[in-house]
Amino acid sequence: MDSFEFNKIAGAVLGTLLFIMATGLLAEAIFAPPAQVVAGYALPAGEPEKGGSAAAPAAQSEPLPVLLAKADAKKGEGLIKPCTACHSFEKGGPNKVGPNLYGVVDRPIASHEGFNYSAAIKEHGAKGEKWTFENLDHFIAGPKAYIPGTAMGYAGLKEADRRADVLAYLRTLSDNPAPLPTP
Ligand code: HEC
Repeated sequence: MDSFEFNKIAGAVLGTLLFIMATGLLAEAIFAPPAQVVAGYALPAGEPEKGGSAAAPAAQSEPLPVLLAKADAKKGEGLIKPCTACHSFEKGGPNKVGPNLYGVVDRPIASHEGFNYSAAIKEHGAKGEKWTFENLDHFIAGPKAYIPGTAMGYAGLKEADRRADVLAYLRTLSDNPAPLPTP
């Protein structure tokens, strides 16, 4: 191969390389690279802060004494139907799965004769706590949340006004009903 031949071949190779480079540049210019794809999704930026109370759980809308003042014991009597699976409510009634609840308002916690309470609830009784309207309200709202370890297998009554109806009914189950708290 003489040098002339070599130059021809080298020129052809170079030419080809140049051509490839040029088309590459041209293609890139025509077809813009796709926008960079980011995994995930965009978060709505700066969601306006809602008022603190709106974000809080729609729990007690009104204080318990206010709810009790307008509570309906008759409605409460209807609402305690699920409780009767485990509790009797009449005076001198038997202990069932749970203790008899006649006169439970203002009764010392875990104090009904002949009932074998859980250690968890006895602890509250040992501290001298009573079933005030307030304590009953918390307990009925969520027994296991209020007294972790209690043997009462009841999920809880979430509506504050319905609990007030139940408390109003429980209050009537007494020889000497406890005074309602003043709103
Ligand atoms: C599945 C059975 C069950 C149901 C349903 C149930 N309870 Fe109970 N309850 C119990 C048991 C068991 C205890 C004793 C708890 C312990 O020893 O920890 C108890 C304890 C109580 C106490 C405390 C009594 C005391 O002497 O200290 C109150 C008050 C009470 N229940 C109210 C209610 C009300 C009101 C309802 C209905 C809204 C209800 N319970 C539904 C089983 C039940």
